[in-house]
Amino acid sequence: MKISVAGTGYVGLVTGVCLAEIGHDVICYDVDKVKIEQLKSGHLPIYEPLLEESIERNIRAKRLHFTSSPLEAYTQAEIVYIAVGTPEKIDGAANLDYVNSAAKEIATYVQKDVIVVTKSTVPFGTNKQLKELMNAHKRYPIKVDVASNPEFLREGSAVHDTFHGDRIVIGAESEEVASVIEKINEPFKIPIIKTSIESAEMIKYAANAFLAMKITFVNEIANLCEYIGADIQDVANGIGTDQRIGKKFLRAGIGYGGSCFPKDTHALLHLSHNFNYPFSILESVIHVNHHQQMRLYEKAKSMALSFFQKKVVVLGLTFKPNTDDIREAPSLRMIEVLLEEGAVVTVYDPAAMKAVEQIFGDRLTYAKSALEAIEGVDAVFIVTEWDEIKEISFSSYLLRMKQPLIFDGRNCYQVEQAKKYPVTYVSIGREDVICATLSNTYTIQSAP
Ligand code: UDX
Repeated sequence: MKISVAGTGYVGLVTGVCLAEIGHDVICYDVDKVKIEQLKSGHLPIYEPLLEESIERNIRAKRLHFTSSPLEAYTQAEIVYIAVGTPEKIDGAANLDYVNSAAKEIATYVQKDVIVVTKSTVPFGTNKQLKELMNAHKRYPIKVDVASNPEFLREGSAVHDTFHGDRIVIGAESEEVASVIEKINEPFKIPIIKTSIESAEMIKYAANAFLAMKITFVNEIANLCEYIGADIQDVANGIGTDQRIGKKFLRAGIGYGGSCFPKDTHALLHLSHNFNYPFSILESVIHVNHHQQMRLYEKAKSMALSFFQKKVVVLGLTFKPNTDDIREAPSLRMIEVLLEEGAVVTVYDPAAMKAVEQIFGDRLTYAKSALEAIEGVDAVFIVTEWDEIKEISFSSYLLRMKQPLIFDGRNCYQVEQAKKYPVTYVSIGREDVICATLSNTYTIQSAP
């Protein structure tokens, strides 16, 4: 079967490349000509492990093609995946402009009966609306079917997740359509769940909202652990061992970010309000996460520390490690408050320096490595748990920093380890290690 994929962002690219990897003939289409030329020459516009090798391999095997011509992409297509963005609108709703224009374009060019499969995260009812839209715009007397096939990929492990997913969800109006999509996915050897289109649309939002809620719950327990002297890692292990709860997504920290959880929780809340349904728990998740992103900074403030004219470094800028994505990253808000307070801020990230420089320009100093970044600074804020950052030893902090004051938003180190050194080490949901000489060495100032 000839498969086309509309959109070469994270989702579209990973979908197209992985479908080629299991033997299908795939054309990836994007309106962005520059991006397509880059991809044709094997250059990856995003940071995603395993993807570049897979692109090269499948281009060589002639199973993977890139085009910016809708004619080439769609005229002979029998299956078209829509994998374009659905960014958040000001009111929290998902913006469907890209999805709608992709559907119109497919309808304009396609000459054969086609199944259009939605990978993009879209609100309930969108797939059926897309079918109507395509039927209204088609130029040939063809049959247009739609299916919802949500993705559950994590950035940074998207290729791995595609091959090792827990399930593939296919929502379709008929068994005939569902079984075509099932057949395409068979080589992945992953359990397939077939549902109605509406249920598939809901599964995607519910999964992301649930994971965001799980993280938020553990973050609130972590905050409480700090008051009662419990350790969140022991608590998470103790509850996660219960298989009904599960160990994954119980890492406490300074909140979730990224392109999915923030956007999808807002969109689901917006949808529930459309039905006059007060989704209170989701509202709390969004609210608590917003505060959690500032938790580390607030802890520093509660210690009466001022960063006015202090050299402060923010380590890790992406919303999580192994990606170059800074969308909704807690680091951005952290940098903003530190600058507002009058700190002299240095930043370092293995993959997102350019993106952050575009936002903050010469208001920040940009280090070339994690070790260079901590040289001569007064305080460190760890925001993303990259390996390069986790590998910095306490002796390195001691040796390089003006004074070893470490705020760790991702619990990268063991508290017991920190206690062996004359450092101040403050993390999330665990005992704070306060260096006896902190108040002597650190001039506690009030901001002007
Ligand atoms: C998420 C979903 O996992 C994926 O299924 C969906 O398709 C897209 O959204 P992604 O945003 O790439 O994937 O990253 P994920 O690994 O889920 O992490 C999201 C955020 O949660 C990150 O900011 C991460 O730091 C945070 N997180 C995750 C925690 O704070 N604690 C955890 O235990 C797990």
